[in-house]
Amino acid sequence: MSVQTSASDDDMASDFAPRLLAWYDRAARVLPWRIAPGSGETPDPYRVWLAEVMLQQTTVATVAGYFARFTERWPTVADLAAAEDADVMAAWAGLGYYARARNLLACARAVVADHGGYFPDSEAALRQLPGIGDYTAASVAAIAFGRSAVVVDANVERLIARHRLIETPLPSAKRAVRAALAPLVPAGRPGDFAQALMDLGATVCTPRNPACAACPLMADCRACGRSDIERLPVKPPKKARPQRHGLAHWIERGGRIWLVRRPDKGMLGGMRALPGGDWTDVRPTESSIAEVDHGFTHFDLTLRLVLRESPDAAAEGEWWPISALDAAGLPTLYRKLTDKMLERDG
Ligand code: ADE
Repeated sequence: MSVQTSASDDDMASDFAPRLLAWYDRAARVLPWRIAPGSGETPDPYRVWLAEVMLQQTTVATVAGYFARFTERWPTVADLAAAEDADVMAAWAGLGYYARARNLLACARAVVADHGGYFPDSEAALRQLPGIGDYTAASVAAIAFGRSAVVVDANVERLIARHRLIETPLPSAKRAVRAALAPLVPAGRPGDFAQALMDLGATVCTPRNPACAACPLMADCRACGRSDIERLPVKPPKKARPQRHGLAHWIERGGRIWLVRRPDKGMLGGMRALPGGDWTDVRPTESSIAEVDHGFTHFDLTLRLVLRESPDAAAEGEWWPISALDAAGLPTLYRKLTDKMLERDG
């Protein structure tokens, strides 16, 4: 007579991947950068890389439109490498974390200059490229080149922290997650395995109300059925975010406004912007005609708009037609402020 015990780690290792992949074969999301499981096609490393860079800190729904526009305008890594910096920065506007866009261009140019226009096919070589960190190197190696890399994003962290009941708070939990996941990566379909974990995390093992009954890993999930499953992964204590303040200048002349380009280094580096002063801890006293609140990763900003007659004498910038402001590629912070100003006028 056999006695039902909870599955040992060895039992789990033996069929974790087959259960997950069988689920993926049925339930994989259809995404523009993805090769459908079983299609037999080979993914284009350029598209895989572009999508992975865009998807960091940004949702699949937001990325879809940007991905379509980028790949239509720059269908290959060589096309992107040859693009003007300003065009790429403007096309990226709204995706946030603008250092990613500068690194994207630097990476495309390095692939062309140093690798003959072909992405290198190992995790270690990918990690040498600008803007490619552990996550992107692993995901591109697995998805585009079939390497058995351990791919851990926030969805995978959550799923494995629950499945293995890892109580260590993030970000330290990452090590335990990697250690639990490494022996489970199958030699045969590492790219599908990585994407299956991401999809399961995004659609079933969700932060709130996970749909455990639909999960192919339910049988040996240590958190399934626990009333406190949403607590996992354990988050680090929240730090209070400092409040900063800034002024932006609305300088209008004959249906145009004065726009500048932010310095390459620093927040929103290289992006078109309204002119204005530094952002500081001090609330300005000058009365403003509009204001917006915007959350950055490490601080909250209140940006207030004030009218000015003309640009500073030595300032570099351009008179941009207000009717074509959409095409300026303003980051969301400034976009919110110009929208408010134009609503107010209009
Ligand atoms: N999030 C990040 N990369 C992804 C991918 N390749 N598929 C689905 N979601 C993702």
